[in-house]
Amino acid sequence: MKELTAIVQEIHHFGSGYCQLKLAVPTLLNIEAGQFAMLKPATLFEPLLRRAMAFYQAKTINNTTLVDFIFHILGRGTQALAQLKPGDQVEFLGPLGKSFSSIPAKELGGALIVAGGVGTPAVLILAQELCSYKIETHIFLGARSSDDLIGVADFSALPAKLTITTDDGSAGEQGFVTQSLEKFLQKQQRNFAVYTCGPEIMMKRTSEIAANFGLKTYASLEARMACGFGVCVGCVIEVQTLNNSSYQRVCVEGPVFDSSEVVW
Ligand SMILES: Cc1cc2nc3c(=O)[nH]c(=O)nc-3n(C[C@H](O)[C@H](O)[C@H](O)COP(=O)(O)OP(=O)(O)OC[C@H]3O[C@@H](n4cnc5c(N)ncnc54)[C@H](O)[C@@H]3O)c2cc1C
Ligand code: FES
Repeated sequence: MKELTAIVQEIHHFGSGYCQLKLAVPTLLNIEAGQFAMLKPATLFEPLLRRAMAFYQAKTINNTTLVDFIFHILGRGTQALAQLKPGDQVEFLGPLGKSFSSIPAKELGGALIVAGGVGTPAVLILAQELCSYKIETHIFLGARSSDDLIGVADFSALPAKLTITTDDGSAGEQGFVTQSLEKFLQKQQRNFAVYTCGPEIMMKRTSEIAANFGLKTYASLEARMACGFGVCVGCVIEVQTLNNSSYQRVCVEGPVFDSSEVVW
């Protein structure tokens, strides 16, 4: 984890209130799939706290790491980030959190990625990694409407099967992404590792459907975060293992959890 000042390279607004932010971080970072950073415009006092954002893309050039984030503009934190301009400074803390592991997918030779809304940015690096290992990968992307879809061009560029769903049918199949997942699994004879990130209800339903087919799901959870590195204990969730129930910090023990252990 490094606390650094990053510089805005590019910022684009798109869809219904979304923003893609590219930062140059002046060091080499090893960013793994599903990890996140805490961000805040460097020159502003308000809002006080940095906001958690999943890495969407990352690449290193010389001694710099270029990182992309995609976020929905909601409240004060994301509004402040959305007003950044190229050349502005950003407080950057990262990479943070436990990553998605590709090992279960490697063992089974197949992966299903189910993502929705602003959970979508958290799975592009995972999808790229799985495809680089030539693991059979099926990606299910869901959004409310075509204006809320994220990263379709980047996911389409991968050697993976992509299924898009929108609640209103304005792009792809009409319905919830979990319905497409269930239909797909009904026709399959083989096993997959399932990875998910998105609204809690979508991740819970994904986990239930996968479990009905005997599959394990790894879910990247969201929580309100103040520090992002384990100190404030503001982001805890309840986790239930075979013998024991405990509270774990989404920012350190997560954000990726074995979904069968999450008390939804
Ligand atoms: C590990 C992690 C990765 C994330 N990655 C992304 C990402 O890639 N793209 C993205 O758009 N967002 C992402 N988020 C969510 C993002 O951090 C919040 O949307 C952001 O902090 C909201 O800040 P704000 O100041 O704009 O809104 P606030 O003024 O703080 O809140 C505005 C509204 O959003 C709700 N809200 C705020 N934070 C969250 C949250 N974490 N979960 C659910 N509801 C929330 C509030 O209850 C309120 O209704 C991520 C969160 C976590 C924990
Ligand atoms: S955000 Fe502070 S402990 Fe997780």
